[in-house]
Amino acid sequence: MPTEEFVVTPYEVRGAIDYDRLRERFGTQPIADADLATLRELAGGTLSPLLTRGVYCSQRDLARLLADHRAGRRFFLYSGRGPSGPIHTAHLIHFHLCRWLQERLGVPMYIQITDDEKFWLRPGTDREETARFGRENLLDLLAVGFDPKRTRVFFDSRSIGTMYPLATEVAKRITYSTVKAVFGFKPETNIGLVFYTALQTVPAFYPSWRTGHPVPCLIPCGIDQDPHFRVTRDLADGLQYPKPALLHGQILPGLSGGAKMSAGGDRADDALYLNDPPAEVDRKIRRAFTGGRATLEEQRRLGATPEVCSVWALWRTQFARDDLEFETVTRDCRSGAMMCGECKEKILGRIHPFLEEHRRRREKARDYAESLILEPLPGGTDAAHAPELPEP
Ligand code: TRP
Repeated sequence: MPTEEFVVTPYEVRGAIDYDRLRERFGTQPIADADLATLRELAGGTLSPLLTRGVYCSQRDLARLLADHRAGRRFFLYSGRGPSGPIHTAHLIHFHLCRWLQERLGVPMYIQITDDEKFWLRPGTDREETARFGRENLLDLLAVGFDPKRTRVFFDSRSIGTMYPLATEVAKRITYSTVKAVFGFKPETNIGLVFYTALQTVPAFYPSWRTGHPVPCLIPCGIDQDPHFRVTRDLADGLQYPKPALLHGQILPGLSGGAKMSAGGDRADDALYLNDPPAEVDRKIRRAFTGGRATLEEQRRLGATPEVCSVWALWRTQFARDDLEFETVTRDCRSGAMMCGECKEKILGRIHPFLEEHRRRREKARDYAESLILEPLPGGTDAAHAPELPEP
């Protein structure tokens, strides 16, 4: 049976993704051991499990970024979120990596909330509603533990006055034929989306624009966002800003076996939301798609397949306490020593306290979330000044 070709774009993810082939298609590089060794050294001797377990599987210009950082040209982080609904656990991955990098290297972080993008993208959505999701999502992202002193937020519909001067420079240099080719736009695509990629570029150049010095940027994101940043990188030379470096994460599978954890229509149980009540979490995990065998007997004899399992993806990315626990779970799954039911109960014992703690931190973030949003003041200055930008 021919397998379906996989598709990965910012607006569609489908099929079984072959990351080696995707890197070739996109022209990105694998993450070299030497780069990880450099990062480990810069981070004081440890690495995030997201890097050691291959959750991040591709990069652009990482070696150059790390060499620059080591030489004193410190970078800043940038990632974002399109607020199409409540946040689920897979959305947090990039923010976990960013928080780890911020904590270890003391670097500033910009978060972009693209309520405009989601409004333009989804027929039938309400502008107020995407903005409301944006405010709610921001609390979830800040609950990950960013340092408020070093973190600022571009909330598109509110920060547009801060972004617009740079967005106009960027937009002037992007042609319609480029975005049509990169994003596959159709004649019926609205012109909001045609312009949108200019706005996703703005945070990557903002510190360089604002300070007048080249400030290197690192963007940890899902590999599906790479097409936007190919456009960004192609503009960098012309504007005389550094090309942003990228770290690409894999697309995390949904609990019902979909290619990407998402809320799509009939797959309501696909995602584990940060605001799911405990009984709902139990139900979703117990029903989740696994790499188990048809019968217990067979599984004891032959073992299961962690690589295709949606629960293993949760262990791997977020819920294993440490490497030892992750390796034990993986080994016992593969050998048939642990059945899926037991594994699911065990991970529920991790997920519940995680969600409780998350909700506590999220409430605390209410105290300062507003103050991090960049907004223009009359006269052209910003309400929330850029975090201490790295020295040029
Ligand atoms: N387009 C992204 C989304 O749909 C949101 C986003 C904006 C983003 N800027 C980003 C994601 C930078 C990663 C990195 O979710």
